[in-house]
Amino acid sequence: MTKILFIIAIIIIVQNLSSHTVFSSDQSPFERLFNRFSDFLKDLKNPNNQFENHYNDRLRYYESQLSHTRVWLTVSSIVNVTGHNPNDHNDNDLLIRALELHWRRPEPPQPGDYIALYRKNDSIQIRTFPLIDMKTNHTFPRYYKIDLPFIYQNLTNLNQTNNNNNNNDIYDNCLEYIVAYVNRQGNIESKSCIRMQARWMEEIFERIKDHRLSELMIPGTHDASSYEKYSYDLYEKDVLSRFQYTQDESLYNQLAYGIRYMDWRVAVYNQTNHTDNQTYNWIEEFWMVHDMQRNRITLKQALRQVIKFLERTTHEIIIIDFHRFVHGFDGEKNLPIMRRRLQTFIQMIHEQLGPYLIPYSSKGLPTIGNLIARNQRILIGYAYKFDVRQLPDSIMFWPPVQHLWADTDKLSELESYIQEQICKPSRSFNNIHLLRSIMAELTPTVEGVLFNRYHGLREMAALVNMNYERWFRYRWSNCTNIVAGDFFLGSDLIDISIDVNRERFQSSK
Ligand SMILES: *[C@@H]1O[C@H](CO)[C@@H](O)[C@H](O)[C@H]1NC(C)=O
Ligand SMILES: *[C@@H]1O[C@H](CO)[C@@H](O)[C@H](O)[C@H]1NC(C)=O
Ligand SMILES: *[C@@H]1O[C@H](CO)[C@@H](O)[C@H](O)[C@H]1NC(C)=O
Ligand SMILES: *[C@@H]1O[C@H](CO)[C@@H](O)[C@H](O)[C@H]1NC(C)=O
Ligand SMILES: *[C@@H]1O[C@H](CO)[C@@H](O)[C@H](O)[C@H]1NC(C)=O
Ligand SMILES: *[C@@H]1O[C@H](CO)[C@@H](O)[C@H](O)[C@H]1NC(C)=O
Ligand SMILES: *[C@@H]1O[C@H](CO)[C@@H](O)[C@H](O)[C@H]1NC(C)=O
Ligand SMILES: *[C@@H]1O[C@H](CO)[C@@H](O)[C@H](O)[C@H]1NC(C)=O
Ligand SMILES: *[C@@H]1O[C@H](CO)[C@@H](O)[C@H](O)[C@H]1NC(C)=O
Repeated sequence: MTKILFIIAIIIIVQNLSSHTVFSSDQSPFERLFNRFSDFLKDLKNPNNQFENHYNDRLRYYESQLSHTRVWLTVSSIVNVTGHNPNDHNDNDLLIRALELHWRRPEPPQPGDYIALYRKNDSIQIRTFPLIDMKTNHTFPRYYKIDLPFIYQNLTNLNQTNNNNNNNDIYDNCLEYIVAYVNRQGNIESKSCIRMQARWMEEIFERIKDHRLSELMIPGTHDASSYEKYSYDLYEKDVLSRFQYTQDESLYNQLAYGIRYMDWRVAVYNQTNHTDNQTYNWIEEFWMVHDMQRNRITLKQALRQVIKFLERTTHEIIIIDFHRFVHGFDGEKNLPIMRRRLQTFIQMIHEQLGPYLIPYSSKGLPTIGNLIARNQRILIGYAYKFDVRQLPDSIMFWPPVQHLWADTDKLSELESYIQEQICKPSRSFNNIHLLRSIMAELTPTVEGVLFNRYHGLREMAALVNMNYERWFRYRWSNCTNIVAGDFFLGSDLIDISIDVNRERFQSSK
């Protein structure tokens, strides 16, 4: 009997928590309005029918596009805790951020082909992976998890570029490791590494300068400010944390690695003003949140990380999408109070980012060249743009980025949702008014959390990240605008985006 009561209590608690935390609607008020409106505009003739009919042909076509061998590295978001003593608060025996190696080749590998992992600092080959099992002649899997961690990097110096102009070896900028596909003749067919891409827009500026952000493929992070490093106690012992953190690199590092779109959520909380203990004084502070869960940093701290990045670069444009305002806003019944908070918010954004802001224009986005000429490098998406309640607004703010969100915990449903949505012409990248982001991650359900179906967001992210190469480099490369992922180093998203843009905007330069 007590056991049943206990279970019921747990269910009620989890449902309560979850309805406020991970499971709340991802749509901003603007989006709800927009979606309702766009229902009226739905094409009579679904342009995707044809697309779907040729689905399999196309898949084969993309596979055949693979004319070169490719090898690449990612960072696993999953930590294998088998054998770890739960009472040991020191995580030294755990392999956190394990390197992962992936390869593709148009032809099957030949006996004698192998993949080599080199250490960057001294070029010593520290691991080799055969590709054919000599006993059975079977090809080994196209993915390996390596027994080495990719440690957190200090990305202070953003000056280095990956341009090959100055006869630099582009592999000079590799971090920690270089991976190579070596064939049996000893030739390297493909080589790559994890590197900073702090200046990728600058590097392809000549190609993209006459285009708009909505035409580019842009790598992004879902819930960018919900970042925290892995620790056993935090992740294995605390259900809420397991479903709170979507990233483990700081906002600054996300930008330095090449992320240019960030999904942000803000809330306001009371806190004591510690400098004054005579009058018991509360002040309202803006916090970065994952919906009902407060993250580790305030809005001001988040903005400071962005500014640090902006000051160290010249041609990088960032989209900050204030996609949801939660505690103190959504559900705040006192409209004057909510308005006052939004005024303070707008004032803070102006103060901090003022000269960098891209002013809203009903005519749509200016070209990237125009923006850079004026050093306007921050686009603010604002969930309350055009809100029916006429909430405070700024001439510098844009509508929020449209989220294409499948709201499913099943990979196959996510995939078919993207298939259905991503190439729809009404929302395609050449529509200059709208930025749209594929939310390429799974969303947990209450039952899934209760029955521990997914373990946590790290496992769910890994499941999806494995597919980015196939999805965004080949299958949907023509239609993709923004892709917002979880644990972004777990996929090759940034390199895929840069390569897709190089393809899309060919120029003589
Ligand atoms: C986790 O580690 C254990 C022991 O080291 C191993 O047997 C198991 O296969 C690993 N699990 C995964 C999913 O890699
Ligand atoms: C390269 O890094 C490894 C691992 O950190 C270290 O053991 C080795 O001594 C380094 N080699 C050089 C030449 O610095
Ligand atoms: C593997 O292939 C080689 C030649 O390519 C052949 O000699 C050998 O018998 C094959 N082994 C098996 C187990 O099929
Ligand atoms: C990162 O490197 C810079 C100089 O390159 C140094 O000033 C700073 O202290 C380093 N930060 C950390 C956390 O190591
Ligand atoms: C980067 O380049 C700028 C301008 O060329 C220079 O002022 C700055 O000191 C450089 N930073 C580092 C860390 O080298
Ligand atoms: C902060 O406290 C004041 C006074 O109790 C209250 O009016 C206000 O609503 C609180 N703000 C938030 C965000 O909870
Ligand atoms: C905190 O209290 C001090 C002393 O009363 C005051 O000068 C300061 O402005 C307060 N800070 C905020 C953010 O309200
Ligand atoms: C705050 O309290 C401490 C002791 O509790 C006292 O020493 C200090 O003078 C107080 N500060 C102010 C500004 O009243
Ligand atoms: C993608 O766009 C390119 C260039 O416009 C075109 O050649 C190619 O056929 C397109 N691919 C698909 C699958 O639509």
